[in-house]
Order: sequence, then structure tokens, then C-alpha cells
Amino acid sequence: METFPELLRVAEVQKTFFDANESKTVLNRVNFTLSMSDSLAVVGPSGCGKTTLLLMIAGLLPATRGAILFGCEVVEGPNRKIALVLQHYGLFPWKTVAANIMLGAKLQKIRVSDAELMDVKKALNIEDIDHLYPDQLSGGQRQRVALARAILLRPSLLLLDEPFAAIDTITRERLQNGLVTVFNERRFSFIIVTHNIEEAVFLGRRIIVLENGAEGIRTVLNNPGAGDLGYRNSPEFFKLTLALRNILENLT
Ligand SMILES: Nc1ncnc2c1ncn2[C@@H]1O[C@H](COP(=O)(O)OP(=O)(O)OP(=O)(O)O)[C@@H](O)[C@H]1O
Ligand SMILES: [Mg+2]
Repeated sequence: METFPELLRVAEVQKTFFDANESKTVLNRVNFTLSMSDSLAVVGPSGCGKTTLLLMIAGLLPATRGAILFGCEVVEGPNRKIALVLQHYGLFPWKTVAANIMLGAKLQKIRVSDAELMDVKKALNIEDIDHLYPDQLSGGQRQRVALARAILLRPSLLLLDEPFAAIDTITRERLQNGLVTVFNERRFSFIIVTHNIEEAVFLGRRIIVLENGAEGIRTVLNNPGAGDLGYRNSPEFFKLTLALRNILENLT
């Protein structure tokens, strides 16, 4: 099997939040690596630190202990090669969809051809809403606009925090297919946080399970079939889905 160089290394990472008279450790001794052109799904109960982990990788929140390396560099602040799509879209309400999609690329002076733009919009099924404003969109459409904007930044690493929550199952599967298509064409790496078991198995070539208050990562599942559009109908997909469900049901 082809192996790619390492892109990201999370080493012994801990995050403790300090309040006036309390401290709370949400992540403790978390270790994993991610290669170029690879994908990782992060699952675990609400509050276990998934969003916190993405914020640290994006350089928006410092780790209390340990280190995060992107390529050969320690992550100490935001990096143009890392794009983050947050749970709450971050669209500008006074700009149209077309302007919102292009905003990041414009700011970073990245040239986007009409063909490239159309490709990404088609993959995400948002080719007909250019003229609308964010408050005229459904939650799912807003998420897709935010995702298109991030993809056009041509990141090496795309961080996605529950990007397809609040979308019906069928549309959600179409969008997952769209993400896989764009992923196979553009060869970035991505980390997706999700509460949806099938989504984690369809998209993550590795799946890590985090647990509330526990040290380290609860489980790592290898899932080499992910990233293939036909994977959803294979026996391996069902096997992995079942295995992940069992792990999550047995978390404390
Ligand atoms: N800035 C902060 N100050 C104090 N505590 C925080 C801060 N940010 C997050 N936390 C706490 O850290 C824990 C983990 O939060 P985080 O948002 O990472 O969880 P999550 O796994 O993404 O949950 P969800 O699945 O609900 O999105 C929570 O208990 C949260 O209250
Ligand atoms: Mg979260």
C-alpha cells in the first residue's frame, strides 16, 4: 500500500481550563498522527473535548501540555494551510452566498477559476443559490457554503466540526459523497468530528474515540476502506459500523 509522509503529529497533548477556583482537564495525553492525503474521524460523547482538539490543531487555542506539529513546525498560531469549519458556519450575513464562498480565497489572494468554483459548488450541491443571503438559507446550506469556502483555500489540512449535522439523512449522504469526491480530486487531509457513526466510518480512514475525563484515546479503529464512494454498501462498512456502535455504547 502507498504510504504518504506525516502531516500532523499530536503528541502527549493535554488541555486544562482554569477558572477562578477550579480547573478542568478535558483532554489528557492524546497522541496520534495523520499522513498527507489521509482522513481521520473523531467521535466521543458531548463535552469530551472534540472541538477543543480542533481549535488547538488550528492554532486558535494553546495546549496546556504536549505539542502539535504540522509538517516540521510546532503549531503556535493559525496557519494558512490549515482550514477550520466550525460548528457555527462563520458566514457574513450582509454578503451573498457567492461572496461568502469566495471571501477566504480573496483575502488570501488565491486565484480560483470558474471551473474550479463550479466543481466545488456542484460537489456540495449549492450551485443555484449564489444570489441568496445566509439568513435565507437552511442550516444545511449554510454548512455547505462554509465548507466550500474552506475547500477553496486549498488547505493541506481541513478541520471539520460536525459539518453535516442538521441535514436529513439522504442529503447528508450525498454531501459525504461530495466530500469524498473533492478529497480524491484535491488530495488534502481532513479531520472530521461527528456524532454520526455511519459518517465516521464512511469518511475516516482512521477513527479515534475519545471519552469524558479519560486519559489518552479510548480506541483507534483502522478503516482503510473509507474514501471510496462504494464503501457504504460493503460488508466491511457494516462490520466497522457495528464495532464503533459497540464501543460507544460501552463508554461510561
Ligand atoms: N474556554 C473554556 N473555558 C472553560 N471550559 C471550556 C472552555 N471551552 C470548552 N470548555 C469545556 O471543555 C469541555 C469540552 O468542550 P468541547 O467543546 O471541546 O466538547 P465537544 O466534545 O466538542 O462537545 P460537543 O460534542 O457537545 O460539541 C466542556 O466541558 C466545555 O464546557
Ligand atoms: Mg463540539
